[in-house]
Amino acid sequence: MFHPKLPIGKNTTKKQITIVNCLTSREYYKKLKFNPKQAELPLSEIEYRLPILIKKGLLRGWRGKYTGYSLTTAGYDTLAIDTLVKANIIEAFGKPLGVGKESDVYDALTPNEKRVALKFHRLGRTSFKKTKLKRNYTVNYSYTPDWHHRSRIAAKKEYTALKLLYPKGVAVPEPIKQTRHVLVMDMIEGAELYHYPELPDAQAVYNETLVNVRRAYQDAHIIHGDLSPFNIILQPNQHILIIDWPQNVPTTHPNAKELLERDLRNVLTFFQRKHGLKNRLKDAVTYVTENTKN
Ligand SMILES: Nc1ncnc2c1ncn2[C@@H]1O[C@H](COP(=O)(O)OP(=O)(O)OP(=O)(O)O)[C@@H](O)[C@H]1O
Ligand SMILES: [Mg+2]
Repeated sequence: MFHPKLPIGKNTTKKQITIVNCLTSREYYKKLKFNPKQAELPLSEIEYRLPILIKKGLLRGWRGKYTGYSLTTAGYDTLAIDTLVKANIIEAFGKPLGVGKESDVYDALTPNEKRVALKFHRLGRTSFKKTKLKRNYTVNYSYTPDWHHRSRIAAKKEYTALKLLYPKGVAVPEPIKQTRHVLVMDMIEGAELYHYPELPDAQAVYNETLVNVRRAYQDAHIIHGDLSPFNIILQPNQHILIIDWPQNVPTTHPNAKELLERDLRNVLTFFQRKHGLKNRLKDAVTYVTENTKN
């Protein structure tokens, strides 16, 4: 059994969560001037607990003109996990399923022992080195609350897209819940398309991809915006799923045409180079955008 029970709840008390909750604002530093009403705790208790939260890595302290505190990524994760546990959505946490450029995806169990995937959006991670150089942050300052905010927007955008696509029959993981920067969805099996040097029927996989891009375009009126063999999962049953939708755009977007062409070109190039298909971009675009149903 690789699902250890969640550490939170056992080691992190309700009061600690409440304090961390007070720090979710976008403000980078907060003066040590909590509104006790907001914290639901007396100031003396907050002052007692802050060093404990820093020691646990949920907050980081800062000393300058005034003493300040900011939420760490672990603190932000804790808040999201706490919400999911309280809402009876997850009960146990498993191994990492994938580390993307801008997310960490984990396996988790619901109280009914169903496996789900938790995608923690992590915007800002890729540009961390540049940011650090520019602003002279110390290593610990890899995330600011602004990145937390942006990660939450990305999670929400992806969740909204999945909620729209799934009922329209587009091959995507079933969305379950979004809270803060975390998206909970159905756990899927298989691997990214680029992992397969050979396919029993490459043309069928290509066609199925196009059917789904068309369905998203015509029935949900959205374009993926970051489609590539990295975001197409081939399941053991040889059917595909399209994942990773935070960059989607509506078909009415001013750059819709370019973005759709880029998505389709990424798919086409892969199938041409790796699997010898001869399909043309022009035909793919027409197929996705033309209004007559086949
Ligand atoms: N629902 C899921 N079930 C199982 N594994 C998943 C699920 N969603 C994502 N993964 C795994 O996590 C990886 C990263 O997911 P995703 O592509 O959505 O995130 P990302 O960080 O945006 O990736 P990228 O590196 O393309 O930017 C996937 O390639 C896949 O291996
Ligand atoms: Mg991806």
